[in-house]
Amino acid sequence: MKATVYTDKETGTIHRNLYGHFAEHLGRCIYEGIWVGEDSVIPHTSGIRNDVLEALRKLNIPVLRWPGGCFADEYHWKDGIGPRNERRRMVNSHWGGVIENNHFGTHEFMELCEMLGCEPYICGNVGSGTVQEMSDWVEYMTLEGDSTLAEARKQNGRDEPWKLKYFGVGNENWGCGGNMRAEYYADLYRRYQTYVRNYGDSKIYKIAGGAPDARYEWTETLMRQAARYMDGLSLHYYTIPGTWQKKGAATDFTEDEWFITMKKALFMDELIRKHGEIMDQYDPDKRIGLIVDEWGTWLDAEPGSNPGFLYQQNTLRDALVAGITLHIFHEHCDRVHMANIAQTVNVLQAMILTEGSKLILTPTYHVFEMFKVHQDAKRLTFEFEKGCYGRTGETIPKISGSASKDKSGNIHLSLCNMDPGSPAHLDIQLENIADLARINGTVLTAASQTSHNTFEQPDSVVPKPFSGFERREGRIVVCLPPMSIVVLAFQNE
Ligand code: AHR
Repeated sequence: MKATVYTDKETGTIHRNLYGHFAEHLGRCIYEGIWVGEDSVIPHTSGIRNDVLEALRKLNIPVLRWPGGCFADEYHWKDGIGPRNERRRMVNSHWGGVIENNHFGTHEFMELCEMLGCEPYICGNVGSGTVQEMSDWVEYMTLEGDSTLAEARKQNGRDEPWKLKYFGVGNENWGCGGNMRAEYYADLYRRYQTYVRNYGDSKIYKIAGGAPDARYEWTETLMRQAARYMDGLSLHYYTIPGTWQKKGAATDFTEDEWFITMKKALFMDELIRKHGEIMDQYDPDKRIGLIVDEWGTWLDAEPGSNPGFLYQQNTLRDALVAGITLHIFHEHCDRVHMANIAQTVNVLQAMILTEGSKLILTPTYHVFEMFKVHQDAKRLTFEFEKGCYGRTGETIPKISGSASKDKSGNIHLSLCNMDPGSPAHLDIQLENIADLARINGTVLTAASQTSHNTFEQPDSVVPKPFSGFERREGRIVVCLPPMSIVVLAFQNE
């Protein structure tokens, strides 16, 4: 298959926020996964586990969304400040009905973001919270002066206001966030966001709660009624191989299910195009970002785990979903300004799984690590024959890919071969690359489609050096193994 990377044709910037994450008060994501508390025997820094911090730092996480999800619209931020043993205990009614002790609140989250060096993205409560409550939260976090709320923040241990850039005004308000009609939510959005104030030099990027999947009329209504009041509009889409009732097992699936999963992951492209076309009618300059702040695979919870905790294993299949979805975001980087995979630890398509003091990295983690070279790089025009992978009487492309140039002039090419049955040969022309001498490759693949890492065998699916390429005059011929993800780095002298 022929391909060309036009190394001088830049087509936008792959904003680092496309590599964002999402951590909700759900199952063992925050509690156990991130927060173990200051009395824990698990090594931690101010209650946040060190092993998770270390692993997440390696991903260069740009932005982290919190506290939900559905949890956001029943979260009352004042319950999560002040002495921990005095904090209100509430029922986490969406997620297993467990008691939430509010030990991880605003201060703990902001400290986590500082430790990770990432931007906080906070989602406020529209469904069951008041305008005043949302407004107070922003003042508490960001006001430099000596209002009662800013004083309270200082009393609780934080003198300086925090920098808060991203704020979501509600979550899934068509569903768990209040079961609203689009018209009603659009009005509420306009009202609530009015009181999300900018203090000092802060300029909050306001994100309206957007549509699920192909619910285009939601996007249309929000854009028509409220576009001028928003900086971003969200979109949620999960890759579910089966149905909502029977999603499919995480580690026990057939090749047909593998194929369907790839096909459904590729649907993200159509969703972005169609929601984007609606946005274009009201915002032709693409000022407003489409913020895909929940995406990833949603599979059956692991047998024996609490079904309300959404704990699922993660195989090579998830890694391919991550790779092809990130490529789709690159392609639409003019409209998609941020994306947040769900969720960081122990929930849905997680980066990390924990069991007591043990931790494993998932195949999805490795894709984010391999692809981080694209963050903030210029997207390059990359034309390639996509090939064909067929199953169940249907076909999808065999190959997905993306190329970028970083600030030092290094070029990175990432490629996914979705076909588990055969390799893919690509003959790639690299326009205007004088010296192809310094090429490094990394590959992620495994013995089988269902390969995954376990606490007993944590390294079944890990990146390895890749040598399946040959240099030719101004070209490189690459052989992608079946079901693989490859990143090639062409280093600038
Ligand atoms: O990520 C899990 C849940 O999926 C979120 O809480 C909700 O927003 C979505 O339905």
